[in-house]
Amino acid sequence: MATTSVLISEADIQQRIKTLAAEIEKDYPANEEIHLVAVLKGGFMFMADLVRAMSDRVTMDFMAVSSYGKGTTSSGQVRVLKDLDSNLEGRHVIVVEDIVDTGLTLHYLQDLLKARAPRSMKTACLLSKPSRRQVDVRIDYIGFTIEDRFVVGYGLDYAEKYRNLPHIAVLEQ
Ligand code: IMP
Ligand code: MG
Repeated sequence: MATTSVLISEADIQQRIKTLAAEIEKDYPANEEIHLVAVLKGGFMFMADLVRAMSDRVTMDFMAVSSYGKGTTSSGQVRVLKDLDSNLEGRHVIVVEDIVDTGLTLHYLQDLLKARAPRSMKTACLLSKPSRRQVDVRIDYIGFTIEDRFVVGYGLDYAEKYRNLPHIAVLEQ
């Protein structure tokens, strides 16, 4: 197993999420429900911490997609492995993603979910690698912008490993 080195610490992630949560709360009219849709598997940890930093007007759902097999490059092919349980019609929806790399996954998801007539739709991602973008996607809330490096931890995997790290790390070769 490869060793990892910390790129973004647990404390920095937690602090940033509190700021993001406060920003999100303030962007929506008071008392209106906000429906968060996490993209599995990578988005599970970000979702868990984000909703715990928000008020009880939050509801949530999960969907699973696969975009990369076991490798580290995007195929551009997005498959829905698990769809949402809930209807999005008339709701304020925020898609919660771990990382936006080429943007292909998010672009596909945004189109798919917009067609379900939400009242509003925004996107929150923990990490963004803008230098890798292949399609222009709108991201409303970004945790951290990073350089073009393959990262793991805090939900993100390499061949299904390292998702449990409480920080973001880089794999050492
Ligand atoms: P995109 O379609 O290229 O934007 O990639 C989206 C998905 O690829 C993300 O949601 C991740 O699951 C995965 N991914 C992209 N970059 C990384 C990385 O650096 N580490 C782990 N997974 C990544
Ligand atoms: Mg993802």
